[in-house]
Amino acid sequence: MNTIAANRIAVLHGVNFDVLELRDPSFYGGKSLSELEHEVTDWARELGLEPIFFQTNAEGEFCEYLHRVRDLADAAIVNAGAWTHYSRAIADALAIAAVPTVEVHLSDVENRDEWRKVSVFDGLVEAKISGKGAAGYREALELLAGKLDVGA
Ligand code: DQA
Repeated sequence: MNTIAANRIAVLHGVNFDVLELRDPSFYGGKSLSELEHEVTDWARELGLEPIFFQTNAEGEFCEYLHRVRDLADAAIVNAGAWTHYSRAIADALAIAAVPTVEVHLSDVENRDEWRKVSVFDGLVEAKISGKGAAGYREALELLAGKLDVGA
């Protein structure tokens, strides 16, 4: 009997990630988004996962992607940038998405500005990983591989 692998991971980036290489390297590491995505692709494949990537600076487009993510992927990694801290619209869209999701932040949002400690995604995600730089995505992939029961 053939079983269809549930191993597709959507990796979503929100506002200002298109210019990641221009952002403060002490918080964000100095890499471009495409360099980060290449790294994530290598880690995902090592774990038997197949990543697809999405980035937008438009909040509505981010919501619309979440509306259809269940057709595109089996799980998701979301780094919504500043939207994380206030966009109830994206939180509602994440509830609609209904795929296991890990929230990742490159920087340590718990130990920066007070407003960055708030995440409107609380209760909607499997885990929140922050302050580990790119390695946080690897941790998120491992967590989701376990959740999806994907053997490397
Ligand atoms: C971020 C943290 C957010 O507070 C910030 O607005 C970002 C990036 C991170 O990856 O550390 O845009 O999500």
